[in-house]
Amino acid sequence: MNTVKLHDKYFIPFIESKQIANIVKKLAKQVEEELANEQPIFIGILNGSFMFIADFVRQYKNNCQVSFVKLASYQGTKSTGKIKKLVGLQEDLKGKTVVILEDIIDTGNTLKEIYQIFENKQVKKLKIATLFFKPDVFKKDLNIDFVGLSIPNKFIVGYGLDYNGLGRNLPDIYQLKTTS
Ligand code: IMP
Ligand code: MG
Repeated sequence: MNTVKLHDKYFIPFIESKQIANIVKKLAKQVEEELANEQPIFIGILNGSFMFIADFVRQYKNNCQVSFVKLASYQGTKSTGKIKKLVGLQEDLKGKTVVILEDIIDTGNTLKEIYQIFENKQVKKLKIATLFFKPDVFKKDLNIDFVGLSIPNKFIVGYGLDYNGLGRNLPDIYQLKTTS
């Protein structure tokens, strides 16, 4: 693994694809055990989670559904500014066990928005699983049910995660090179 340059910034190797695979496998097993008597629907939050979900569901051995949503912001009519809405959700989630799959949870702002939307859909259970988690930055009172790996407050790219649109295709994870 070498240093990569994306736009104006340099990124150094952080987590190899082999290690990511192990983390994903472990996470899938954990969810599998917890939801042994359920037939969950996994909902991936695009774009960042596409690679993670493809690997995660291949490790998940029980019956399940898979769907994707995107959180889009649009200008609200009120002066309060941006309103978020989910696009792409076709399934009726009523009575279902829903697992939100996130690539990374940072401040938790995104997750909070998503969680509130799903809470209003009369689901049976609502769980959250994330591949990466930054505990030092997270400041919401939400419970994250499944965490792949907690990482320091560093900006990372690769395995679906981007820096201004680039880096999603990298099989390994890189972290921002800081000058200090
Ligand atoms: P949050 O709302 O602050 O929790 O941020 C969530 C979203 O920000 C993630 O779903 C990512 O799309 C993006 N994000 C947060 N941290 C990183 C990072 O280290 N690298 C790339 N994207 C990130
Ligand atoms: Mg994301």
